[in-house]
Amino acid sequence: MLCLLDRILVFAFVLECNSSVWSKFDWEKLTTIVMFNFYDIDLLKHAHDNGVVVAKMENIAKSDLANSTARAEWVATQVDDVVQKGLDGFNFDFEDPLDPDSPESHGYTALVKELREALLAALPAAQVSVDVAWSAAGIDGRFYDYTGLAANSDLLFVMAYDEMSQIWDEPCNARPNSNLTYAEEGIMTYQALGIENSKLVLGLPWYGYVYRCIEYFPDNETCLIEEIPFRGCPCSDAAGRQYEYRLLQDLLRERNLTELWDPSSHTPYFTFTDNGTVYQVRHDNPRSLLDKTTYARSEGLAGAGMWAANFLDYSDTPEGQMQRDAMWGVMP
Ligand SMILES: *[C@@H]1O[C@H](CO)[C@@H](O)[C@H](O)[C@H]1NC(C)=O
Ligand SMILES: *[C@@H]1O[C@H](CO)[C@@H](O)[C@H](O)[C@H]1NC(C)=O
Ligand SMILES: *[C@@H]1O[C@H](CO)[C@@H](O)[C@H](O)[C@H]1NC(C)=O
Ligand SMILES: *[C@@H]1O[C@H](CO)[C@@H](O)[C@H](O)[C@H]1NC(C)=O
Ligand SMILES: *[C@@H]1O[C@H](CO)[C@@H](O)[C@H](O)[C@H]1NC(C)=O
Repeated sequence: MLCLLDRILVFAFVLECNSSVWSKFDWEKLTTIVMFNFYDIDLLKHAHDNGVVVAKMENIAKSDLANSTARAEWVATQVDDVVQKGLDGFNFDFEDPLDPDSPESHGYTALVKELREALLAALPAAQVSVDVAWSAAGIDGRFYDYTGLAANSDLLFVMAYDEMSQIWDEPCNARPNSNLTYAEEGIMTYQALGIENSKLVLGLPWYGYVYRCIEYFPDNETCLIEEIPFRGCPCSDAAGRQYEYRLLQDLLRERNLTELWDPSSHTPYFTFTDNGTVYQVRHDNPRSLLDKTTYARSEGLAGAGMWAANFLDYSDTPEGQMQRDAMWGVMP
């Protein structure tokens, strides 16, 4: 049995991919993977051979949260599935808006508690994790009972990205996906609720946003974006398109572009023109991720993780190898 006590966690989300991809993950560093919307028995075996916890993710319908009968049925189904597939844990990725102190919000906490109790009865070492927004301050209308969620789970995966899902102040412009200060301030909101560092995993983006600028000011590199409302907010990162890290690096290489550095957010960015339209890219790279994992370490958090591990170039090329070494290299 590995002693994980002093080990910093590396918690990876994985989307369906083949073994030529997942076999090249850094299995020395990984401690948990979530098979997100798929199941692969070979990946499960490989993870177990490397002492890595494997969890599944599933969400309940919002309309069932406050219904204890529906919850009990759902929990029984999920626990059976985890046991039958030989998995070791469960991840909640519920992201719907819930009103503060509402029956649904209490129901969500009850669901996590009920699932964890039932799962531990079947698998005493099971791990239950809950994905939460970058801040506890009701991001995207997610007024969850974060204290209760933390108390009834092993880990909160704090998604320190999509920070611009709601831009309340003018102008509506392209901004960082994972501003270091926001990441730090977001973690503080969980700490302020009394949630222990040993339950907090800093979730990092292995992707970025490509924004089309409806107006671009070269002097201050401001890229105004279309106003796309999101959950009551007029301006959102929904105006951009998400690109995997691998694709952003392809774009840089194909167009011979260089990443610039924004010191205010500790993130890279770049701007380019395609057929007369200006685009601005807001993403992360090994340098910005290192700043965040350094913070996670110095703050004494449980660990760090990423959405998603398969977003790199896993080809057998020098570029792919360099990319993987650099990106996995900055994980704790
Ligand atoms: C609660 O869930 C059960 C089981 O799914 C269902 O039969 C029942 O109608 C639900 N109750 C309400 C009030 O929706
Ligand atoms: C950027 O420059 C433009 C043109 O001078 C100005 O209108 C705009 O307010 C500036 N934006 C920011 C965020 O500084
Ligand atoms: C790429 O950009 C660099 C510097 O920006 C320049 O020196 C080089 O000639 C460019 N290469 C191509 C193929 O455009
Ligand atoms: C990053 O966050 C800090 C603190 O809120 C802010 O001052 C800075 O302008 C942000 N950077 C960008 C590029 O939005
Ligand atoms: C380039 O832009 C012009 C004018 O906006 C448009 O008509 C044309 O289809 C575009 N070409 C490509 C390849 O997107």
